[in-house]
Amino acid sequence: MSIGIVGGGVIGLSIAFELLERGAQDITVYDPDPSRSAGLVAAGMLAPTAEAVFGEEALQALMLESVRRWPGFAGRVRARTGLPVGHRTEGTLLVALTVDDQAEIDRLIGYYRRAGADIEPLTGRQLREREPLLSPRVRGGAFAPGDHQADPRLLLRALRSLPLRFESTAIDDLSTVRDDVIIVANGVGAAGLTGLPIRPVKGQVLRLRGAEPLVRHVIRGVAGGRHVYLVPRADGELVVGATEEERGADTSVTAGGVLDLLRPAADLLPGATELVLAETLAGLRPGTPDNAPVLGPLPGTRALVAAGHYRHGVLLAPVTAAAIAGLALDGSTDIDIGAFAAGRFT
Ligand code: GLY
Repeated sequence: MSIGIVGGGVIGLSIAFELLERGAQDITVYDPDPSRSAGLVAAGMLAPTAEAVFGEEALQALMLESVRRWPGFAGRVRARTGLPVGHRTEGTLLVALTVDDQAEIDRLIGYYRRAGADIEPLTGRQLREREPLLSPRVRGGAFAPGDHQADPRLLLRALRSLPLRFESTAIDDLSTVRDDVIIVANGVGAAGLTGLPIRPVKGQVLRLRGAEPLVRHVIRGVAGGRHVYLVPRADGELVVGATEEERGADTSVTAGGVLDLLRPAADLLPGATELVLAETLAGLRPGTPDNAPVLGPLPGTRALVAAGHYRHGVLLAPVTAAAIAGLALDGSTDIDIGAFAAGRFT
């Protein structure tokens, strides 16, 4: 049986990996330009707690299921490819600068607790005990031990080394794909191919570099009402993200976008200003009307869809890959994806 996957980013290649793991052999990945993968811009937070949003309970359950799968997924990718994916489990610190910022974090802590998430409130001093370079002005926050990180660039490098057939053909009509099974996993590009309401949501990101990491934890901060996340890599890189902008397919980096990220980053972690500004970039998250992905059969076609992962592509890769590989090879999955069917939009 031949399987064609449209999209060679984190989602498409994670599905390909899971198919290989389950014995599939004849897999073609169609991607005219893998350099446009949203995963190359993503910071790689695996954040089912800190990225939880009021009213998105089904999505949060899927996020929790996927973060639970991440250690096994990372280990299996490493075992198959010999390459690391930067999976780290130090956890995430939520950090507030002003009284109002603290009130916002306190509201979130209440919500996380009601949702059953593991969250530990911390004073400013307790935060600085864990991360001494946080600003002395930081008032307080919390520790989310279950929110981890992976390095999407390492993940993509590992997955691209898999024994797959890579075709640079641009697919703009599903009927041109001759494989027995078709899987649509090309993020924002899935809109044109499927008619699903998937739209680009721009995110600008900075990569700062220093000789050593300034922090060990992922930091999610709010400073004067401005939100930022800081994701440290072992080699001294600090990923600072991300703006969220409804600007169609625009991927320009703007001075205002850089300012919106650097200002809260410097307020919370002053040493960040000493780092080299190594890269500025913008990517397009594939957003959907309810912020949740589309997983499963595309009505009226023989294709399966795995797209619209919005802010959570890296986090949701393992659960998406397992569900779609099950559907492709066995026609079913024991993962509860009922809330994510394409039919909710058609
Ligand atoms: N998951 C973080 C972001 O999309 O910016």
